Amino acid sequence: MTVPLGSMPAAAITFRQGAGLGIELIRLGETGPGLVRVDIKATGVCHSDLHIVDGDWPTDRPLVLGHEASGVVAEIGAGVRDVQVGDHVVLSWFAPCGRCVTCASGQAWLCSGTTAIDNTLPDGSTGFTDDDGLEVWPYLGLGTFTDSVLVPESAVIVVSDELPFEVGALLGCSVTTGVGAVVNTASVPVGSVAVVIGCGGVGLSIIMGLKLVGANPIIAVDLSAEKLAIAEELGATVVLRGDEVDVPAHLQEHYGGADFAFEAIGRIATIESLPSMLSAGGSAVLVGMTPVGARASIDPFDLADQGKSILGCNYGSSVAKRDIPRLADLYLAGLLPLDKLIGLVRPLSDASSALDELRAGVGLRSILVPAGREEELQVARPTG
Ligand code: APR
Ligand code: ZN
Repeated sequence: MTVPLGSMPAAAITFRQGAGLGIELIRLGETGPGLVRVDIKATGVCHSDLHIVDGDWPTDRPLVLGHEASGVVAEIGAGVRDVQVGDHVVLSWFAPCGRCVTCASGQAWLCSGTTAIDNTLPDGSTGFTDDDGLEVWPYLGLGTFTDSVLVPESAVIVVSDELPFEVGALLGCSVTTGVGAVVNTASVPVGSVAVVIGCGGVGLSIIMGLKLVGANPIIAVDLSAEKLAIAEELGATVVLRGDEVDVPAHLQEHYGGADFAFEAIGRIATIESLPSMLSAGGSAVLVGMTPVGARASIDPFDLADQGKSILGCNYGSSVAKRDIPRLADLYLAGLLPLDKLIGLVRPLSDASSALDELRAGVGLRSILVPAGREEELQVARPTG
């Protein structure tokens, strides 16, 4: 396939099967009909990027990694109506088609027409090419570990200019997934007993969502004292070391089980233990993503007899156009301290170290910034 080449070479963090991570010069195609060119200002490093690098979700195509980002609209293609040049935006990695039955029924997160999961733009093209003119795919249709991206209009969510770019980046994936798991997927009622296993960017967002809706107690479980300290700061009322405490036994003894148990790691052993953490009628919410093809074992008698449920949750069952601006406004109103999720703010070229730290479970969410754009950030945080 021939991709029309624009004139903009940009540095990108790419992943090629067998060759691992690299920094390459890539070119961006033209801003065709329905497309928007966005200059990336900040992009988060998410465990889903790591799943690709570690081969949990195999890809035989060269990809520009990254799918959690904010930026400014640089150019709009023909027919784009809801976005203007200069708008501050968050990118949604699940760009809905807007035409399928699930979109029509208000469940944009289950869209069957999206091409995001094929890592392409809606017409099947890639937006990026390498120096030889060969296609380079945008991860989840975005590929944000670079200076500028081409994305469909439905992936572009306009937010307040007041929103710091670093915080906006987190709204692209972890926060929308985590808070959405609480308010959309599980509709957690006030006063519910809730436990969150895994306190990375997603788990900590779940904890903030639980605080927002008035769950009590909010029990956070992780292996890292650092993560548990921030969990407490963000609203956890009880923190437990998963390697020191028998979590299901503790929950049954102290609370008669949890009404809601959120898994935010994607680890089979933890997923299998969720039903034993629940009270009768409780719900386990699967937020963490396992390697493709993994299997888990459950006790179906316990589920049926005790009226327990297992809820799947992709992207926090969120309608990006509705939920991302709402979450941005909750941050600006002081009700969601999202800046506390941010760890090191560092250059794009640090992506490899940031992914290594994520694999090791060290540090808070890393934010990568394209070269020359550091001055435009708005939250004062340590830099790497
Ligand atoms: N028990 C408790 N906590 C654990 C365990 C365990 N056995 N193993 C890992 N953890 C903790 C880590 O210490 C870390 O704090 O789980 C957390 C995982 O966080 P991140 O690696 O930052 O991952 P995150 O980006 O939050 O994503 C979590 O959600 O969307 C999916 O693909 C994503 O599967 C991933 C999951
Ligand atoms: Zn993500």
